[in-house]
Amino acid sequence: MSQAGFPKDFLWGGAIAANQIEGAWNEGGKGLSVADVAMYRPDLDVKDYQEQVKMTMARIEAAMADPTDTYYPKRRGSDFYHRYKEDIALLKEMGFKALRLSIAWSRLYPTGEELTPNEAGVTFYQEVFDELKKAGIESIVTLSHYEMPLALSVKYNGWVERKVIDCFQRFCRSCFEAFPDVKYWLTFNEVDSIIRHPFTTAGIVVERCTPGKEKEEIYQALHHQLVASSLVTRDLHEMLPKAKIGCMLTKLMTYPRTCAPIDVELTLKKNLDNYFYADVQVFGKYPPLILKRMENEGIRLNFALGDLEILKNYTVDFVTFSYYMSMTESGDPTAERTPGNTIAGVKNPYLPATDWGWQIDPKGLKISLLELYDRYQLPLMVVENGMGAKDVLEEDGTIHDSYRIDYFKAHFEQMKEAIDEGVDLIGYTSWGCIDLVSASTSQMSKRYGFIYVDADDEGHGTYDRYRKDSFYWYKKVIATNGEQL
Ligand code: BG6
Repeated sequence: MSQAGFPKDFLWGGAIAANQIEGAWNEGGKGLSVADVAMYRPDLDVKDYQEQVKMTMARIEAAMADPTDTYYPKRRGSDFYHRYKEDIALLKEMGFKALRLSIAWSRLYPTGEELTPNEAGVTFYQEVFDELKKAGIESIVTLSHYEMPLALSVKYNGWVERKVIDCFQRFCRSCFEAFPDVKYWLTFNEVDSIIRHPFTTAGIVVERCTPGKEKEEIYQALHHQLVASSLVTRDLHEMLPKAKIGCMLTKLMTYPRTCAPIDVELTLKKNLDNYFYADVQVFGKYPPLILKRMENEGIRLNFALGDLEILKNYTVDFVTFSYYMSMTESGDPTAERTPGNTIAGVKNPYLPATDWGWQIDPKGLKISLLELYDRYQLPLMVVENGMGAKDVLEEDGTIHDSYRIDYFKAHFEQMKEAIDEGVDLIGYTSWGCIDLVSASTSQMSKRYGFIYVDADDEGHGTYDRYRKDSFYWYKKVIATNGEQL
């Protein structure tokens, strides 16, 4: 077998999201976003994702009345808003070819319903994209990464209301107009996550849903996002014909716990359920088995006239996904469970796990790549992958994160194998390349980066940047195009 390795123009890089890194929550005319009301909760178990991501109206009101960032780490982020030049210089030093970043919707449209974008917000991102261009770094832009304007959540219960499609479309069109040099766009980060954390993903406060119809309303909101995704795909193709747009899925790899047929059946269903979101965005229609499942569960979706044509006509150009861990599934209700990326699954006795319980499985990345490419036959990008860990800043400013290097090395070997077996993988952006605030737990101490940010969970620290050992290692990986791991 010929072993070509990574393609010559492979997009090596990292990924960040505005709400977790920028800070400056009340500067430059920015409005509050759903992320700005997410509290750091040291009283909760970090493995209890459901409690961590739960939101109530009482909490939103308390947060809106609080003019400080004391309890709300995403208001602080990692101060990228003020330090982006220094950060981009460090990424350039590592040899980055691409940076995946998001545009905070509420920086351009503070309440989501203005008719024109906030100039200061547009200028900020123009400057960031210029700086990246100067550094020779390609921008991969997520249009919605857990940061919708809070006002839309409060007024419409987020994406439950169809009207939000228009607001999002207006925001996206402004982005396409203002940032015409961006070549790669993604619509919704982890579009499937609306089911696991409806508030973070779609501004839905579950207690405000019609009693007994919570699930139906969440699926309706998802439908609105899928239609919005198709509409902005059409808009991008019309406005910037050379640019490409992709979907973004949380790849929740699930294996049967044993070869008992019931384990295999449950696993198959879990995986079909995971694929369903990308299936709609790639194939342009809802899979029949999913529609039947919804019907059996009493979920009736309201499809407006024309929705099915919109989904069918405007499908994505490439497929991206996040991959952190894998799970197993079992028909045995007593099987031991373990937490993962905002899910809980059955434990796999063959895998180690991080301190947050996420099972480390490099082979699962290769299997995911083979499966996704076989299913969709479109170019793929891994746009999130990495290991949340507690790092120690030594007195001399070094950080020895050999565990992170081991994690990446094992995953890159598997990517390479997948490429050699025929997968069209065009890029890789590790998650949180600069330390940032955790999406699920709002901790700063759950670090993913090559670049250490000197701040703790309470926001104490200088916010100065330090190169970890993994910084130098990744630099070599990029310089040798993945040959020297
Ligand atoms: C992904 C999200 O699910 O996982 C990111 O897209 C998130 O926003 C990442 O930060 C890691 O999760 P966490 O909870 O460790 O920050």
